[in-house]
Parts: sequence; C-alpha cells; structure tokens
Amino acid sequence: MSLGTVQTQAFNSEVVKAVNVEKSKLFSSLTNKSVTYKNRVIIPPMCMYSSTDGFFNEFHLAHYASFAFKGVTTIIIEATAVEPRDRISPHDVGLWSDEHIAPLKRIVDLIRS
Ligand SMILES: Cc1cc2nc3c(=O)[nH]c(=O)nc-3n(C[C@H](O)[C@H](O)[C@H](O)COP(=O)(O)O)c2cc1C
Repeated sequence: MSLGTVQTQAFNSEVVKAVNVEKSKLFSSLTNKSVTYKNRVIIPPMCMYSSTDGFFNEFHLAHYASFAFKGVTTIIIEATAVEPRDRISPHDVGLWSDEHIAPLKRIVDLIRS
C-alpha cells in the first residue's frame, strides 16, 4: 500500500476524486534548508474562539493533536495574543503570562511525541 493510499483513507470519496493522489506532490517530502517535511500538508492558523482567559485547554489539545495523528507535517496555531487587549474576541488564546506557557507546552509535547 502506498503512502498516498494510506493518507487518503481518512478522507471521503469526494476528496479522493478531487486529488489525484498518485500524481500529486502533496504526499511527497519537501526539504527547506536543514528541515525536511515528510509531506506538504500544512494546517493554517484558525481561531477556535474556545479559550477562557487565554488558556489553551482540553479542546485545543484534541483539536491540534488530531491533525498530528492524521500525519500533517506542520501545524500553525491560531492567533495567540501577547496582551489581553490584542485578542479579537474574549475567547482567543494568549501568552501574556507565564501561566499560559504550560497548557500550550502540553499540546506541543503531545504532538512531538
Ligand atoms: C475561521 C477562520 C479562522 C482563522 N483564524 C486565523 C488566525 O487565527 N490567524 C491567522 O493568521 N489566520 C487565520 N485565518 C486565515 C487562515 O489561516 C487562512 O489564511 C485563510 O483561511 C486563507 O486560506 P487559503 O489561503 O488556504 O485560502 C482564519 C481563517 C478562518 C476561516
């Protein structure tokens, strides 16, 4: 079974029809300077509006880890405010205090594992 076939099992038939997996470069590796990505699937930043007081929580853990489990190579996390007033909604995540670090580190550690 090819890598392309394995990767597409999670997608529905419409997506499989839209992407010619065997000919697409999507699942081929890409090297940029010293970093080699195993595929070219990248999750863009998407505000989830699911935080209380700026903290990453269980929702974010499941949300971001699910992409990693599916094999994406890069995840760009959502807009993360460095001051409370930088948020575009009260439910945005942030990193304006040391207490915000551990919940985000937990997500990063899980994805790296
Ligand atoms: C619901 C939603 C939330 C988004 N949140 C962010 C965000 O937090 N930070 C950011 O830089 N871009 C955000 N974007 C923009 C997306 O990351 C992406 O750049 C945009 O959807 C265009 O994607 P495309 O170039 O693949 O069409 C958001 C987009 C959507 C639809």
